[in-house]
Amino acid sequence: MNKITVTTNKKASMSDFYGIFFEDINHAADGGLYGEMIRNRAFEFSPMDNPSYQALTAWKRIEEGGASVSSFVSNKSPFSKRNPNYLILEINKTGTRAGIKNLGYNSGIAVKENESYNFSCYAKSDKPCEITVSIDNAYGEVITEKSLNITSNEWTEYSFTLTSPVDDFSAVLAVTSKQECKFCLDFVSLFPVKTYKNRKNGMRNDIAEMLADLKPKFMRFPGGCLIHDGTLNSDDRNSMYRWKNTIGAVTDRPSRRNNWRYNQSLGLGYFEYFQFCEDIGAKPLPVLPAGYNPHMEQAVPLDEMQEWIDDALDLIEFANGNADTKWGKIRCDMGHAEPFNLEYLAVGNEEVGQGFWDRYDLFHKAIKEKYPQIKIINSAGPFPQGGEFERGWNNAKKNGSDLVDEHYYTSPEWMLANCHRYDNMPSDGPKVFLGEYASWGNTYYNALIEAAYMTGLENNAHAIGLVCYAPLLCNVDYINWQPDMIWFDNHRVYGSANYYVQKMFMNCTGNNLLDVKHDGFDKPITLGSDKISGNIEIEADRCSAEFYDIKITDITTGNVKTYDNLSFNNGGKAVIDSIDSNHYKVESTAKRTAGDKGFRLFFGKSDDKNLIQWFIGGWQNQDTEVNAQVNGRGSCLDHNIFSVMTGQEYKLCLEVNGRNITTYINGKTANTAIDKQPVMEELYYTASSDDNNIYIKAVNVRDTEITSEICVEGVNGINANITELSGNSLNDMNDFDNPKKVSPKTSALTAVSNTFEYTFPPQSVTIFTVQK
Ligand code: AHR
Repeated sequence: MNKITVTTNKKASMSDFYGIFFEDINHAADGGLYGEMIRNRAFEFSPMDNPSYQALTAWKRIEEGGASVSSFVSNKSPFSKRNPNYLILEINKTGTRAGIKNLGYNSGIAVKENESYNFSCYAKSDKPCEITVSIDNAYGEVITEKSLNITSNEWTEYSFTLTSPVDDFSAVLAVTSKQECKFCLDFVSLFPVKTYKNRKNGMRNDIAEMLADLKPKFMRFPGGCLIHDGTLNSDDRNSMYRWKNTIGAVTDRPSRRNNWRYNQSLGLGYFEYFQFCEDIGAKPLPVLPAGYNPHMEQAVPLDEMQEWIDDALDLIEFANGNADTKWGKIRCDMGHAEPFNLEYLAVGNEEVGQGFWDRYDLFHKAIKEKYPQIKIINSAGPFPQGGEFERGWNNAKKNGSDLVDEHYYTSPEWMLANCHRYDNMPSDGPKVFLGEYASWGNTYYNALIEAAYMTGLENNAHAIGLVCYAPLLCNVDYINWQPDMIWFDNHRVYGSANYYVQKMFMNCTGNNLLDVKHDGFDKPITLGSDKISGNIEIEADRCSAEFYDIKITDITTGNVKTYDNLSFNNGGKAVIDSIDSNHYKVESTAKRTAGDKGFRLFFGKSDDKNLIQWFIGGWQNQDTEVNAQVNGRGSCLDHNIFSVMTGQEYKLCLEVNGRNITTYINGKTANTAIDKQPVMEELYYTASSDDNNIYIKAVNVRDTEITSEICVEGVNGINANITELSGNSLNDMNDFDNPKKVSPKTSALTAVSNTFEYTFPPQSVTIFTVQK
């Protein structure tokens, strides 16, 4: 009989183990968590944010029954110099209805029966003018309205509350007048009165509740690539994310290009992030840019870094300083006298290249000197292995960083193959911060395999400090990236299958990892083949290129085959051959004749979705990467920096030995990788505890049930709740119509002794919360 014995032996602390990562991607902030219902409230949208935008995006004139309206955007004598645009609306002929309306996000503005909404705007007019503000349905019928008189030619704030008598999810906010008049409008805002915890300028309740329900111990924010993908001047519209732009009056926060190709109002700024963290009981974990943009290769000169370092020091003061300090006072003046208790600070996100490390060192030294108690996190790049990943870790050790931020998005099969990735890590160095990870997909299969992988993370809490899935939020009508944990539109929200696994694990973590002994389990089943066979193909990737001296050597048989030269104009791909061998070599000389990327060599290819590829000058012509695709879902196996130059010859060589892959460029090793085969253990399990409970997690990824005896040391009998995810088919996904198709069920379990037998259903995730 299988037996799991949960001991009372505490192996490692898990006090902050699971958190969330909020990035303003997929309209996660504006049009998402941030409660504002008006899109482009300050008329600041610009083609720089997105080529389809202009200052009146999301606004439409109302000209009914012979009405004539002119709308202009001006920036002369603005209310806010940092958001200079405003609307001039001229009602030339009133007809039956004249004015302008805002279309909101998604299908429109979503209002609910008997719910109230705070309207506000800034307005001025040379002559007194009465206007009506209404929430209309999609047919132009008024749902609720109020009027106001614009009496001043100076900018004046107007505000009132509108209450909706009905549910309507495709409403608009209309500003109309029955008079022929001309007036200026800016910062037109509509917020639900009921924001999360009733905060002013607060969060949309339903989304915030989904996040709070996860009980995250920390929140990483505001990105992601968002933070470093921009220019160096904080006054530029497309600057990197600079936190000082995001505090103070919302009207003075400059509208910015969001690197995910939309606009960010910064209405959800650093104060709101800190406040929200406090509201959901999560420790704030901000990520700052390091004056180095790995995507556009821009870097602040080293002797001009002080401004950026000050940003970091000032942020700590803003969060933790008292009212006697400059930045602490600003926080107090914004309404939060108590400190926000910042403990963690990340410098950089996925940066690669020495340029980042030259700058990181300066931050690290300055922060530790002034605030030795702050835990500093450095990046390990966007790949789970390779030269830049190593560089991240080596620098962390050199600097004494507290945590190293690892990121990877992989196939579920990669997770099954790498569940023991952290088993041999020491406990005395910097800890892993798994700051972004997910398997590609939102199906039950993805969630199940992630659960198995997470037991591997928990079992290594000696080396892993913090973990958060990514990305967190996605507005279904503005997708930049998928999969995502939580999906929403303007009035609905649902958690993906992955969300429910995260919630189960995050709600049952405890503070300490417990030692678990096991007995009787079967050996793991290894899936797939021990060799990499299949088609070999060569591609000119976004370039013109020539390939010659093409040769495949079967090292096992000694068989050598040569092939005709290839030449591609503006991209192109050719099948060279197919090979079934456990040890072989593919060689070619390659030359780019024009273009801006490099070459790709495919091997072990069985179809377009199952293959391994070696990128030479991949992504932005910056990589040599080996990447394995299983069912169309890629995982990086190794990465190093490499760029292809036009006119230069490259001797490429790929050697495959079993599942070991080595690549060479001009005789030098470029990549060393192992394409590990997925492994299915009989049961994945882990245990942890806090003062009240012992949490036992078990994941059965196989399609058969598994029975085990479970002994919990230190208790006399068992009084437990069971939370279980099972009975779904692997392709099942949640959606708006079926938001809980994949979600756990709960039951109770009692036993007179401290041992019980349990049969884990096929493909299931089970958590026992055993009362101490
Ligand atoms: O999570 C989405 C993106 O993935 C993040 O912005 C970036 O850090 C990573 O590449």
